[in-house]
Amino acid sequence: MSTQTSREALQALDRQDPLARFRDRFVLPEAVIYLDGNSLGPLPVGAAERAAEVVNEQWGQGLIRSWNTAGWFELPTRLGDKLGTLLGANPGETVVTDTTSLNLFKALASALRIQQVDGPGRRVIITERDNFPTDIYIAQGLADLLNSVTTETGVDYEVRLIDTQDELLAALGPDTALISLSHVNYRTGRMWDMPAITAAAHEAGALAIWDLAHAAGAGAGGPERGRRGLCGGLYVQVPQRRAGRPGVHLGQRPAPAAFLATALRLVVARPALCHG
Ligand SMILES: Cc1ncc(COP(=O)(O)O)c(C=O)c1O
Repeated sequence: MSTQTSREALQALDRQDPLARFRDRFVLPEAVIYLDGNSLGPLPVGAAERAAEVVNEQWGQGLIRSWNTAGWFELPTRLGDKLGTLLGANPGETVVTDTTSLNLFKALASALRIQQVDGPGRRVIITERDNFPTDIYIAQGLADLLNSVTTETGVDYEVRLIDTQDELLAALGPDTALISLSHVNYRTGRMWDMPAITAAAHEAGALAIWDLAHAAGAGAGGPERGRRGLCGGLYVQVPQRRAGRPGVHLGQRPAPAAFLATALRLVVARPALCHG
């Protein structure tokens, strides 16, 4: 395979690029080529003006009325549906709320809460060593927090780090509470086999929580339309046998975090979402 690297060849490729016209939708300093889409992408044109309008008019003038008059109440689902079209989710399946880290904390805490009832001996969280660092810190912090306040079984919560799919499958067992993985690695772009791993986790009685940052549009392994529940940048899957059981339904659990409650409500309402 030959690689064309002359300036003319690259400019010709640029002219054929179907995404080239989107360059004008972003503000970038002169002569800067910016490839960082990870933590802080470039500023979209009009974003600064829109933010000023929200602060000055909706907040400054509308005050508390803006929850209704400016539609703040509906923003999580309205924005979620817009994002859902990129993710391949159906309307009503995606919610925009908080940050990825906060959502992950809520999802992990809620999933462990489910396992405290459904599988009290399950206290291991499996995640990847090369995961986004805060994803690991959140799992470790939650395990530490729970270990400092729960003593009833004498079994500590533990985060187990794996590197490969084989290691992951070998690590799944009767002590696994959940797996927490990022579908697309933020540095290398490596992608996990989400359907196969989720099915294996469910088979082992574990829950599967996926961080989908960087996954939108990244390949065929992503969420498929109508098949999965997506929430706030995270993807939460609950095996159907659990979702269908009365104990998992909202209101029959003491105060599950709102984030996972939303996901569970979706899953309970549409059991087809549960299959990986
Ligand atoms: C894969 C992944 N997970 C989690 C995060 C943390 O996101 P947040 O800062 O919104 O909590 C990032 C941030 O870039 C990320 O790339």
